[in-house]
Amino acid sequence: MEKIVWDEAVHGTGHPLLDKEHHAIVEMYNKVIERYHQDIYDRKLYLVDLLAILNRMGSHFSVEEGMLMEYPDLLELEREEHGNISDQLTRFIATPSADQIDPLLEYVSGWLSDHLPKEAEEFRVLFQQQAIERQEKRRVA
Ligand SMILES: [Fe+2]
Ligand SMILES: [Fe+2]
Repeated sequence: MEKIVWDEAVHGTGHPLLDKEHHAIVEMYNKVIERYHQDIYDRKLYLVDLLAILNRMGSHFSVEEGMLMEYPDLLELEREEHGNISDQLTRFIATPSADQIDPLLEYVSGWLSDHLPKEAEEFRVLFQQQAIERQEKRRVA
């Protein structure tokens, strides 16, 4: 499991708040991975950090889903993926065990590596579309 190296071209959405939140989540995840590689299994530390990630994700997902209210297809996909990661983290936090750390971190790592670039691309396209629509409206007005 590797840390995630922030790459503006891959992770950037062009929206300052979303980028800030994604960055914060990546940093929190990287901190957990760092400890994992130091081979420190401290149940309490994992719980504190993973709970913080779950909470941070929860507030971020609300913001993100709020921005997608007018795009039901995208919203549905986002909700489903947000639900998946939230369920995995919640399950671990409810019944933490040392032998679940590896599969959990694999899952979180895979989820972040897949979800962040994919949604960054979706948001970039969406913001471009919105900018074009605004320009067209201005031209017609
Ligand atoms: Fe996001
Ligand atoms: Fe998302």
